[in-house]
Amino acid sequence: MTPKHPSESLTVLTDLVLPSETNALNNLFGGELLARMDRAASISAGRHSRRIAVTVSVNHVAFNKAVPLGSVVIIEAKVSRSFKTSMEIYLDVWIEERESGERTKSNEAIYTFVAVDEMGKPVEVPQIIPETKLEIHRYDDALRRKQLSLLLAGKIKPEEATELKALFV
Ligand SMILES: CC(C)(COP(=O)(O)OP(=O)(O)OC[C@H]1O[C@@H](n2cnc3c(N)ncnc32)[C@H](O)[C@@H]1OP(=O)(O)O)[C@@H](O)C(=O)NCCC(=O)NCCS
Repeated sequence: MTPKHPSESLTVLTDLVLPSETNALNNLFGGELLARMDRAASISAGRHSRRIAVTVSVNHVAFNKAVPLGSVVIIEAKVSRSFKTSMEIYLDVWIEERESGERTKSNEAIYTFVAVDEMGKPVEVPQIIPETKLEIHRYDDALRRKQLSLLLAGKIKPEEATELKALFV
């Protein structure tokens, strides 16, 4: 399988925050943002693998800044690293200022997707070659995040989490 670059899976989702999507403080409801990020990540994983891709884990979400009603929200998703059948998708969320067009980073998230066949069985995906400094940084850290996610899910034993252990020695 020919390796791909993260830019080939870039997915940009731009949408407004409407009244039905806000909480009591008139800010975007967290679950709505999670759903939007899941959609963007799903498209990104599909672009990388050219397969059906399903969410297997949400590894990290940081709601750093409230997103007010009426905001223009931009979600950028890219595959940061692929393994055998799974892909880590890194999401950056921005709010676009209406008048200046300036962007402020509001959130970040990391999702893991698995490529599957029509029977839902995991299938292999292309490897990834990071290009930019940020892509290389995210690629390098992804194995540690995968091991942490598998450890928390009880799918590997602590002694198998070699990348995590290396942080403490
Ligand atoms: C995703 C799914 C197909 C994986 O099937 P499985 O039998 O567990 O397959 P495996 O154990 O071989 O795992 C497949 C890959 O996912 C990875 N994975 C599994 N659980 C993970 C977790 N919690 N965090 C990170 N990666 C995980 C495995 O490490 C493996 O990666 P690799 O092949 O790249 O090394 C299956 O769990 C499933 O269908 N889940 C439901 C998906 C879904 O419906 N999502 C929508 C949410 S409602």
